[in-house]
Amino acid sequence: MRIVMVGSGYVGLVSGACFAQFGHDVMCVDKDPAKIAQLREGKIPIYEPGLDRIVADNMRAGRLAFGTNFNDSVAAADAVFIAVGTPTRRGDGHADLTYVYAAAAEIASAIRGYTVVVTKSTVPVGTGREVARIIRETQPAAEFDVVSNPEFLREGAALEDFMKPDRVVIGVESARARDVMAAIYRPLNLIQTPMVFTNIETAEVTKYAGNAFLATKITFINEIADLCEKVGADVHDVARGIGLDGRIGRKFLHPGPGFGGSCFPKDTLALAYTAREANAPQTIVEQVIEVNNTRKKRMANKVIAFCGGSVAGMTIGVLGLTFKPNTDDMRDAPSLDIVPALQAAGARIVAFDPEGMAEAGRLLKNVTFARTAYEAATGADVLVVITEWHEFRGLDPRRLKQVMRQPRIVDLRNIFDPEELRGLGFVYEGVGRPQLGN
Ligand SMILES: NC(=O)c1ccc[n+]([C@@H]2O[C@H](COP(=O)([O-])OP(=O)(O)OC[C@H]3O[C@@H](n4cnc5c(N)ncnc54)[C@H](O)[C@@H]3O)[C@@H](O)[C@H]2O)c1
Repeated sequence: MRIVMVGSGYVGLVSGACFAQFGHDVMCVDKDPAKIAQLREGKIPIYEPGLDRIVADNMRAGRLAFGTNFNDSVAAADAVFIAVGTPTRRGDGHADLTYVYAAAAEIASAIRGYTVVVTKSTVPVGTGREVARIIRETQPAAEFDVVSNPEFLREGAALEDFMKPDRVVIGVESARARDVMAAIYRPLNLIQTPMVFTNIETAEVTKYAGNAFLATKITFINEIADLCEKVGADVHDVARGIGLDGRIGRKFLHPGPGFGGSCFPKDTLALAYTAREANAPQTIVEQVIEVNNTRKKRMANKVIAFCGGSVAGMTIGVLGLTFKPNTDDMRDAPSLDIVPALQAAGARIVAFDPEGMAEAGRLLKNVTFARTAYEAATGADVLVVITEWHEFRGLDPRRLKQVMRQPRIVDLRNIFDPEELRGLGFVYEGVGRPQLGN
């Protein structure tokens, strides 16, 4: 199959590289010339484990190419995927569909012969129909079908998720387009991946329902964690106790500072907006958004309270800035709420993140970036763990204690063993765990 991927960000680049790995002929385009220039030189503009190798392998094999102009490749394509951003629109919380519609119009002009136009971006219900309308309006003679194929990959595990997905959801309404989509995903038949074929609206709603459910699960355990802290219970045992019930499941029951990232915050907002417009308000999701926003803001207060009510003049070491480990993505990361609030309370921040510091440097002001976790801890009055990078779990608490001004840790991801740290003389506070023993 000849595939064009419009948008070469986290989703477009991973999808394009993985489709090439499936054996298809893929052209990834992006309107950002700097990104394309980098990719052509074999440099990967984002951090995603394993992506560099699969991009290099497939470029070498001649199955993967990059460009800024897609006219020729769209003309020859069996399928064109739209994988551009759908950020939150300023003002009302709805998804900003400007990039999707612009891409649709550009694709429309370039179509020659039957082409399947696939929306892979996360788009509110109704967008697929609008994409079809734009294409028809731009080129009335175009022979095409529109398909919705939402993407469920997780940053940090994107290749694994794309190559071995739990399922593939395809909203398709013609047999011809269905055949093209089945051919594109045929390699997944070998591992018996469930293919969920639906109409276009159903596929669009499925993506939002999935993300909203996961965001709700996180928010639920976060509130249970608050209760645990107050009553001397341990949220991890509670999570295990409920998660072993097959109806609930163990995943996504880890308490933390609140969800962030490029998807959950904007997708819950967009779902709430769409649902209100459709006169079917999603009040649970609206509450989740509210609780999560408050929680992110409250985390700085937790640190301040831990330090006795003030952090003025203190040096705070921060471990982890990205919204989760194994990515350089800083979009809506909890650190973007926590760090400025601690600075506003008079603290000096020294931070370390294995991959996120370049982007964090653009988004956070007056932060000193350290070269290692130990350097971030050096001279700190308190160390705050915001992102659970694997390498932080292996830190030697004795060494941390030696370099810190005061041995105090607020662990917003519960990566440390409270008993061990307290035994070594740390004052330690996690999330949703008994605070006794300090
Ligand atoms: N990041 C994730 O983990 C994830 C997971 C599932 C779904 N999604 C969804 O996928 C979509 C893309 O997300 P992302 O994280 O890859 O975004 P991104 O911002 O990393 O990438 C989008 C890219 O599209 C390019 N672009 C915009 N308009 C274009 C045009 N007309 N022609 C060519 N290129 C254009 C931009 O320059 C940018 O490089 C969003 O709708 C998102 O919700 C993201």
